[in-house]
Amino acid sequence: MRKAIIGNWKMHGTRPGALALAEAAATHVRKVRPECEVVLCPPAVFLYEIDAAIASSGVKLGGQDCHAAAEGPFTGDISAAQLKEAGCSHVIVGHSERRAAYGEHNDAVRDKAAQAITQGLIPIICVGEPAEIRQQGQAEAFVGAAARACVPEGVMPVQFLLAYEPVWSIGTGNTPTLDDIIRMHAHLKTLLPGAAVLYGGSVKGSNAAAILGLPEVDGALVGGASLKAEEFCAIVDAA
Ligand code: 13P
Repeated sequence: MRKAIIGNWKMHGTRPGALALAEAAATHVRKVRPECEVVLCPPAVFLYEIDAAIASSGVKLGGQDCHAAAEGPFTGDISAAQLKEAGCSHVIVGHSERRAAYGEHNDAVRDKAAQAITQGLIPIICVGEPAEIRQQGQAEAFVGAAARACVPEGVMPVQFLLAYEPVWSIGTGNTPTLDDIIRMHAHLKTLLPGAAVLYGGSVKGSNAAAILGLPEVDGALVGGASLKAEEFCAIVDAA
């Protein structure tokens, strides 16, 4: 399987900046790395324009969240079907920032993933432990239980991606040791045979080759470094 590089732009950027970033990534993939699997997850308001900007580059588009229901009176939310219509092939669900800010728990994440799959999207299901859980030596048990709870019953491994994102690593510059990454990814792959597991948390140009070089790591979910074209392209090159 090709290692997937997914850029999660979170709530960053302006329209001109977002378009320029998307065009830079699309140009790099088209001209230099056509074999790479790259997915951009911009803020939802930019999806349609970015879909047009990356057309015929091979770069794919993803949402940052979706609702668990097909449609309904949910002010401010976006449905998986709407993301699909806007050109998305993927959607992030269960990001730790949403778990923290909106109290999203594993059951809600599983329902969102199920809705995404129903609509033909690939959910990028995020799981990861807070610092205290790792300090207590419970990281594998915690993350494994979350992964099992968040993957809907009966789905095939090709229908979703798992992203292991330790909460304490997101936006901090701190990463687990390579051994810790290997152990966690191997654990998740044992629990969910056939599943692709991405790593996320402070991935940047300078550590991407080491992390993506691990056979247990099927790609990267990149936050801050995905907002800088040069840095993001360096991560794509490492993949
Ligand atoms: P950083 O790459 O900024 O640590 O963010 C990771 C992340 O949250 C991606 O979803």
